[in-house]
Amino acid sequence: MPTETLRAALAVALCAMPLAAGADDTAVASVEDGKYFAADETPTFNVSADGTVDWYTFSGFRRYHSECHVCHGPDGMGSTYAPPLKDAVMNLDYWEFTAVVAAGLEHVDASGNSVMPAFGLNRNVMCYLDDIWVYLRARGADAVPRGRPAKREDKPDAFVEHENACMAG
Ligand code: HEC
Repeated sequence: MPTETLRAALAVALCAMPLAAGADDTAVASVEDGKYFAADETPTFNVSADGTVDWYTFSGFRRYHSECHVCHGPDGMGSTYAPPLKDAVMNLDYWEFTAVVAAGLEHVDASGNSVMPAFGLNRNVMCYLDDIWVYLRARGADAVPRGRPAKREDKPDAFVEHENACMAG
């Protein structure tokens, strides 16, 4: 392929990337068994007019508060030790989020060490990663207030199937 053609192809690919990443694109494009997806087919949240949240957002609230909140603060608000994830997820895409949670992060700077543990082998986190993601995105988009969501959709069969397979796997 001539270099010019390659360059053109690369330019097209690079221009398409921010759209594909769609960090702020939380709008529901499709739903399957009570699980909602954005246009790029990554999971997203759904909040009805009366404040009812989808099951995954509710599940994510619970998982976040059992696995992440000790460092990242209640409701994704951040702490003196770790950044506010409700804001962080609006600047990450789903795949970047997954990679950080699975592999962890460690910054060593003048102010000392700041360590995000790797959760890749922790099923209580990895089996519910989509849930935590959609909950935090809902917080970041101001679609759900602080605290436990008062109303939620029923637990979908597909959730139970995934949970059983993932926790047993
Ligand atoms: C032991 C404390 C601790 C726990 C528990 C913890 N984190 Fe972190 N996390 C951190 C610290 C500290 C950082 C900042 C790391 C850095 O920048 O070097 C961080 C960074 C992150 C980032 C990157 C934020 C950004 O701005 O890019 C994500 C995403 C993240 N954590 C997700 C999670 C999730 C999801 C959970 C729960 C499953 C979790 N963390 C649990 C300490 C923790």
